[in-house]
Amino acid sequence: MGKVIDPFWAAVASFGADQILVLPEWIQRKIEVEQTIIPEGITGEMALLEKEISGCMKCDLGSTRKNIVFGEGNSEAGILIVGEGPGATEDETGKPFVGKSGKLLDKIFASIGLGREKLFIANIVKCRPPNNRAPSPSESEICGKYLQRQIEIMKPGIIVALGASAARTLLNTRTGIGLLRGDFHSYMGTPVLVTYHPAALLRSPALKRPVWEDMKKLKSFMEEAGLPRESKGNND
Ligand code: URA
Repeated sequence: MGKVIDPFWAAVASFGADQILVLPEWIQRKIEVEQTIIPEGITGEMALLEKEISGCMKCDLGSTRKNIVFGEGNSEAGILIVGEGPGATEDETGKPFVGKSGKLLDKIFASIGLGREKLFIANIVKCRPPNNRAPSPSESEICGKYLQRQIEIMKPGIIVALGASAARTLLNTRTGIGLLRGDFHSYMGTPVLVTYHPAALLRSPALKRPVWEDMKKLKSFMEEAGLPRESKGNND
């Protein structure tokens, strides 16, 4: 399924009315919805959710973002990677993990045979927190509801939580990352493997070894669970 378009708002957006007139906020939001780029591989119910989220102003991050980073990838393979929130490059492009951390993330998962075509990658919050600060508890709670719906649609066989923010929000705990990582936890019945965030590895290369141990655990888990799942072909 492609992008769902309301012809009237598409026409207003293409006309560029928002650039020459001071329009009420609700009209600006409609225009933003029409201008949103639906990332590749987003189909069916996920595409409807993506459309619903575009233009979101439920928290203050909405007023400083350039693009909502909905997440992207293969929603059928059953492997969901959850980071903290978009950085500057992600905010510019609307795509998750495309900066330095993203390049390292690609290498980490490639080491166990998982290219991006086998992963769905999302974040706890979908808009960039200014100055790369961590999302606040209320931002995480509000935006976490969208992630919850992505999880309900995707029904992953495994979630990999990258770093403290993702792990603490998903697992609703204050426990530190050092204690959480390397173990399987549960999010509403779905197994969650916690590991360090690639940005932490860029700061502390010594964390590469524990992450490698975590990747070996992930690989064994996937073999037993029959992951990645066969794609039904909706993601190409
Ligand atoms: N860090 C994250 O947690 N998510 C991104 O999408 C990029 C960097």
